[in-house]
Formats: sequence, C-alpha cells, structure tokens
Amino acid sequence: MAEKGVAIAPAEGKLGVLLVGLGAVSTTFVAGVEAIKRGLAQPVGSLTQMGTIRLGKRTDNNVPKIKDFVPLATLEDIVFGAWDIFPDNAFDAAMNAGVLDKDLLNQVSEQLASLKPMPAVFEQNYVKRLHGENIKSGKNKMELAEQLIDDIASFKSKNGCDRLVMVWAASTEIFLEGSDVHSSLEVFEKGLYDSDPAIAPSMIYAYAALKSGVPFANGAPNLTVDIPALRDLADQMRVPICGKDFKTGQTWMKTLLAPGIKARMLGLDGWYSTNILGNRDGEVLDDPENFKTKEESKLSVLEHILQPEVYPDLYEGFSHVVRINYYPPRGDNKEGWDNIDIFGWLGYKMQIKIDFLCRDSILAAPLCLDLALFLDLAQRAGMKGVQEWLSFYFKSPQTAPGLYPEHDIFIQLMKLKNTLRHLRGEDLITHLGLEYYD
Ligand SMILES: NC(=O)c1ccc[n+]([C@@H]2O[C@H](COP(=O)([O-])OP(=O)(O)OC[C@H]3O[C@@H](n4cnc5c(N)ncnc54)[C@H](O)[C@@H]3O)[C@@H](O)[C@H]2O)c1
Repeated sequence: MAEKGVAIAPAEGKLGVLLVGLGAVSTTFVAGVEAIKRGLAQPVGSLTQMGTIRLGKRTDNNVPKIKDFVPLATLEDIVFGAWDIFPDNAFDAAMNAGVLDKDLLNQVSEQLASLKPMPAVFEQNYVKRLHGENIKSGKNKMELAEQLIDDIASFKSKNGCDRLVMVWAASTEIFLEGSDVHSSLEVFEKGLYDSDPAIAPSMIYAYAALKSGVPFANGAPNLTVDIPALRDLADQMRVPICGKDFKTGQTWMKTLLAPGIKARMLGLDGWYSTNILGNRDGEVLDDPENFKTKEESKLSVLEHILQPEVYPDLYEGFSHVVRINYYPPRGDNKEGWDNIDIFGWLGYKMQIKIDFLCRDSILAAPLCLDLALFLDLAQRAGMKGVQEWLSFYFKSPQTAPGLYPEHDIFIQLMKLKNTLRHLRGEDLITHLGLEYYD
C-alpha cells in the first residue's frame, strides 16, 4: 500500500547552505549552529529544532517534534559557504559584528575561521555606504551570473554536498520597482547580457541559484526573486523560492498585536514606530534610498492585517510612521519603540507603548536555519515556485501574483503546520472541535 501523504526524498547526505553576505546575521547563524552542535547552547527561536506539531484530536496526545515528523536535514549535515564584499573569514566577521561573546566565538573559532567568503557580485549604486574589495569583475552581468554558477558547482563538489540552498542575508539594496526587464525570463536574460542597470546584484545571485536548481530565500526587503522573470525560472526549474525580509523585531511585534486589536474590534488612530540601531545594517539603512526599501516592507503589514476597506469605522486613514535611526553605540542591540493610539467603546481613546530592547541578529539567526531546512524539505517534496507557507518568517511575504499576503502570524503558523500535516497525509487541523461534544 502506498504511504500516505506526499512522496518526500530522504534527507540523505550533506546540505550546503550558501549565504549571500557574511555579516551580523550570517555569522550569528553559523556560529550558533556550530555551538549547538557542540552542546554549548540550545537552538532557541527555531521552530524546526524546538517546535512541535499536534496530530489528530486533542485527546490523542500525539504531539511530535516537527523535526521528528518531517524528514529535515540535521545540523550535523550542514556545510556553510558564503559570499561577501569583505574578505574577512566568519570568525573575524563575527568579532566585528559584535553580536556574540568572544568566549563563545573562541570555542567555535576553527569552524568559523575556515569559512572564507567568495568574491561577491556587487554594484556600488545598490548599497552606497559600503566599499569592499572582495568583488568579482566581468564584462557583463551574465558573465557575473556564470561566475556564481561556477562557484555553486565547485562548492558542491569540493564539499561533497548532496543538496544546496541559498539565503540572501546581505545588505538591503536601494528601492527598486518592477520594470520591463523583470517581466519575462527572455528579456531578463537579454538584460543580463546588456548589463541593464535595473538588474540588481541580488537578482544575479537568485538567477544563478535557480539556474543551478538551488532553492532561494530572500531575508532582505529587496525585490530580488519577486519578479515574473525569476518566478517563472523557479517554476521551470522546479525550485522553491520565498521572501522577503526576515520578520524579527518590531514587525514581529506588530503582527502579534495588530491581529489582537482587530480581533476585539478596537479602532486605531495611529501607530508610530521608531528604532535606534548601530550595526552595519543600520549604517546601510541610514541612506534614504536603502531605507525606502525597508520602509515599504515595514509599512505594508498593518494595512493588510487591519483591512481598512472592510472596517472603515475602525481603521480608515490611520497614521502609520516607521523610522530607523543609525546610532552606533547600540551596535546590534536595537531598541524599538512603538506608540499605538487606539480607541474603544464609544470612541474613548487609549494608548499602548512598547519598548523592545532586542538583539537583531539573535532574532534573525534561527529564522535563517528554519528557512534553509524548510526550503530543502520543500525541494525534496517536489514543491516549486513561491512557498507561501513560509510567510511566517517574512515581513513582506511573497505570494502568487494577484493574491494579497497573509500577515497575521497566527494564521501564518497554522498554514505552515497544516502544510507539514498535508505533506505527511495527516488530517488538517481546523480547530472546529465539534466532535468533542457529540
Ligand atoms: N537582523 C534582523 O533582524 C534582520 C531582519 C530583517 C532583515 N534583515 C536583513 O538581513 C540583511 C543582513 O543583516 P545584517 O545585520 O547581517 O547586516 P550586515 O551589514 O552585518 O551584513 C550584510 C553583509 O552583506 C554584505 N554584502 C552587501 N552586499 C553584498 C553583495 N552584493 N554580495 C555579497 N555580500 C554583500 C556586506 O558586506 C555585509 O557584510 C540586511 O539586508 C538586513 O536588512 C535583518
């Protein structure tokens, strides 16, 4: 008898995780995985490592760990590769980023020091504040893509990897809207030969990944793989993709609170969010063109959750302001403030204040891990194109064209877990629960 659920190839052999950008997030991810493998720490914040999934009825008491329920690569199977515009190895880059304690880094120094970034595809116009020297040159953008395709193939064979995934954890590029050159694979490829200025470096990485059959996740708000040309390529190559912009600090808070405010049919006059951030990401985002990309991503969330067109009396015309201020003394330890002006019964006004003293890369690292493992699972399960079930991880979830994104984190989580149940042929959980009262 056929096994129930979807056929999933086993997670055998090594999984290469290729990181674009070896900065604060990437090094915190890599060092964390190495530390966890050595039993020095727990994978806190990772759904794939610590999360469970309920199967069947509540009375069945069947709640396995997600990693025991679906066949995921283990941490021992992971091999890391990276590209960066700076030549520092992962140990030096992690020291520089200043996220993790020196003591911890010293305990995994050998593994980190052996991770040296490959020369990057970079264009100054897209990230004006950074000036690196570990950069590829080529006569056009197609040649740069081919160099990346070679990097991917030689990484795979040198490290004996069975499968690869790529995660963009490099700097946020300047704001870019979709244009003609993004509209089909044919014109995009011509644009690569012509070095069209509207083809961003991140798109060249994504193109190289997809051409190599490698799943791609976009942790930054850049357009990148969210264009028809690359969505079509992902479908053609039967490769899963997802993005955009890791949902970590303030936006995570927003997607927790806004559904709650709406659930109680409370109104919103305004939501003012500001941050101070002193890491390299903060420095890049200090440039207005780069901040614009982040701002668009952060702003979209409330409109979608609150649906002012459906609830005009509660949400029409609310004011939503988001600021990020570069403030070096705080490094990676961001402080995010929210002032939320709400109103209740008979229009009486109230305020909610949040002061979140968070650590950006500590929040982002487990998301990188989960995305790498879930994308690899999706690939082995034959899932291609946009993986909307991974919306849970993103501020601006990528969806099929014409479909509005689901931002409510609890719906996103339910969707993620139901997708896993579906893959394994388990009943989906609707929370109806009438059977308990029959
Ligand atoms: N930490 C979070 O909570 C969080 C949340 C959402 C999104 N992000 C995004 O994740 C990304 C990484 O954040 P971070 O804090 O690690 O930043 P970072 O500045 O520490 O690291 C980014 C690295 O990317 C490199 N880089 C830039 N352009 C490159 C290119 N074309 N190719 C290869 N490398 C390139 C930079 O040299 C740098 O080392 C940023 O885009 C950030 O906006 C972070």
